[in-house]
Amino acid sequence: IVRTRAELQPAIARHLAAKRRGPGAPALGLVPTMGALHAGHRALAEAAVAQNDVVVASVFVNPLQFGDATDLERYPRTLDADAALLAEAGVDLVFAPDVEEMYPGGEPEVRVAAGPLAQKWEGASRPGHFDGVCTVVSKLLHLAMPGGFDGARAAYRAYFGQKDAQQVAVVRRMVQDLDFPVEIVAVPIVRDPDGLALSSRNRFLSGQERDAALVLSRALGLLEDRARAHEPLNPDDAEALIRSQPLVELDYLDVVDTDTLEPLAFACRETPFTGEALAIVAAAVGPVRLIDNMPLRAR
Ligand code: PAJ
Repeated sequence: IVRTRAELQPAIARHLAAKRRGPGAPALGLVPTMGALHAGHRALAEAAVAQNDVVVASVFVNPLQFGDATDLERYPRTLDADAALLAEAGVDLVFAPDVEEMYPGGEPEVRVAAGPLAQKWEGASRPGHFDGVCTVVSKLLHLAMPGGFDGARAAYRAYFGQKDAQQVAVVRRMVQDLDFPVEIVAVPIVRDPDGLALSSRNRFLSGQERDAALVLSRALGLLEDRARAHEPLNPDDAEALIRSQPLVELDYLDVVDTDTLEPLAFACRETPFTGEALAIVAAAVGPVRLIDNMPLRAR
């Protein structure tokens, strides 16, 4: 476990030198997290371990991306268990700075503006959220960036969960627009056997609320079935299903383009579906806001 920025680069260089599989540049994988890790995070770590020589996971609850002080305060912090899970997955280094280490002297003056892609959906209900994400992800990508080997730059990949589809789209866009020398890898959503997408916030649901929350993945499944059957992707029935569940307060449900997150043109909703799209949903269930999504593909 590395606690300071100054120790991170030497530790990464040591591991890369030790784990090199032969001539040529080695590969480093970075897995950014906020801790309270579960099997969803574990899938990211395992994908990174499978594809790289050395893997660094970061555990940092980033105050910049929280709009609500209570949400930040009650965010679970379980570093010992997190470090154990990451070690078991084969992660080499855990970077776990405190707030003062990441933001010495207070919040940064200069931040990354995430742009129009970050204004809709999650961004609409969480103003500034994606600016905070992009700012901390920029810092983490810089802090963990591997150096050169034999005149070549080590390969560099960063892993994000498809669970946060908008985060993946925004981070991809940032890396493209600002020329970060890193490949962004998206890892599919890990779900409980009954369909609920794993989230660190699920622990705040009562049993009854958890049951009610299953309507989200069911509604997405309905759209998935339609897409597979080449039927029109009108989200009205899926929306009605969610609205029939009194414990769930729907924020949004729509079918959008995977990269731009723009809603599909109305024509696509009325005509047989043949392409690819993403169904996205967000809702409040009891004390928590849940998000989920499903890639749609015609078969
Ligand atoms: P956090 O919520 O801890 O999530 C860390 C990563 O795990 C994210 O990329 C997220 O999409 C992924 N993840 C969470 N639940 C998942 C699931 N059920 N299946 C697959 N992947 C899942 O996202 C953040 O932290 C922060 O915004 C961060 C990127 C670390 C920047 O602070």
